[in-house]
Amino acid sequence: MDVSWENNEYFSQNEPSTMDLEDRMVSADYHEEDEWENPLRPQTLSEYIGQEKNKENLSVYIQAAKQRGESLDHVLLYGPPGLGKTTLAQIIARELGVNFRITSGPALERPGDLAALLTSLEPNDVLFIDEIHRLPRTVEEILYPAMEDFSIDIMNGKGAGAQAIHLPLDHFTLVGATTRAGQLSAPLRDRFGVVLRLELYTAEELSQIVERSARILGISCSHGGALELATRSRGTPRIANRLLKRVRDFAQMMNNGMIDEKTAKESLTRLEIDELGLDKTDRRMLKAMIEYYGGGPVGLETIAAMIGEESVTIEDVYEPYLMQIGFLSRTPRGRLVLPAAYKHLGIAQPGQQSLL
Ligand code: ADE
Repeated sequence: MDVSWENNEYFSQNEPSTMDLEDRMVSADYHEEDEWENPLRPQTLSEYIGQEKNKENLSVYIQAAKQRGESLDHVLLYGPPGLGKTTLAQIIARELGVNFRITSGPALERPGDLAALLTSLEPNDVLFIDEIHRLPRTVEEILYPAMEDFSIDIMNGKGAGAQAIHLPLDHFTLVGATTRAGQLSAPLRDRFGVVLRLELYTAEELSQIVERSARILGISCSHGGALELATRSRGTPRIANRLLKRVRDFAQMMNNGMIDEKTAKESLTRLEIDELGLDKTDRRMLKAMIEYYGGGPVGLETIAAMIGEESVTIEDVYEPYLMQIGFLSRTPRGRLVLPAAYKHLGIAQPGQQSLL
C-alpha cells in the first residue's frame, strides 16, 4: 500500500513530527537535568543493583588483575542507553584503585587528541571512551597498537622530512561503551578481552534502584510506589530516576510528598505514560504499523518516516524495550507487531475476536 505521509494522521498530528527525544519523559537519552542523577550513581560493584552475571564476572577479572599488579584487559560495554555503562566504567576504575579518564568517540576528532590523552595516563589507569562506534577511522587506527602493544606511532613533521616516532605507553585499560556493537569494526572489537552486554533491568531491580534513589534524595516512597515507577520505566534506571523526580512534584502537590502506589499511578497517567511505560510516541508507532501495514513486516526506514524519528533512534531507544516485552519482533523482512501489543492497545488482530 502506498501512503502519502503528508496527509496521514500520524504524520500531520498536532505534535511536530520532528518531536525531539529531549521532550520524551521516557527517552533514555542523557538530559542535562540527569546531572541530578549523579549523587545516585553507585560507587562500588556491591552498591550496583542488577546486571548480576556481568558484575560477578567483572569482580573476578578486577580482583585477578589487581592481584597480579597488572592492568585489567580492555572492556567493551554495550547495550541500550541509560543502563549504566558510564557508571560501571567509573566503578571499574574505583575498584581497581586507578584514575578514571573520560572522553567520547565524537570528541576525539584527530589522532593527536587521542595521542595526547594516552600519553598522559598513569600506569593501569582506565580510559573510558563513550560512543566508541563514532570514533573517526584515523583515530581508531592509533588505538589498535595502543590497545595491543601499549605503544603509538606518531608522525613528526610533514612531507618528505616527516619522521615516524615510536612512543611506548604505560599499560592502561580501555573501557569502550556503545549502543551499537554491530557498528564496531572487527579489528577494534577483537581487541577487547572482555565484552559485556548490559541487559534491560527487571521491575524488581528497578524498584530497588528507585527505593535507593528515594532514600538518598530524602523522598518518601512506598514499596508499591517504587514498583509502580519501576514497571513504567522501560527496564532503564535513567528513566526510573527521572520519573521519580517528576512524580515527586506531583506527590508534593497531591499527597504531602509521599509517593505511594495511588499517587504514582495518577502522576504517571497525567504524564501519559501507561502501565507498561509506553508513551504517546510508542503507541503512535505501533498503531501506525497496524493501521497502515496490517502490523507488518514494515521496514525500519518506513517506520522512521511515519513517526518522524531517525532510524538509529528507533533501533536504540524504542525497539529494545518493545522487543523485551514481546510487542515487536525484528524479522529479515521488517518489523512485526506481535499479539501482545494488539491486546495492550485494545485493537483486534485480523482473524481474532475483537477485544473492544
Ligand atoms: N542508579 C542508576 N543505576 C543504578 C544501578 N544499576 N544500581 C544502583 N543505582 C543505580
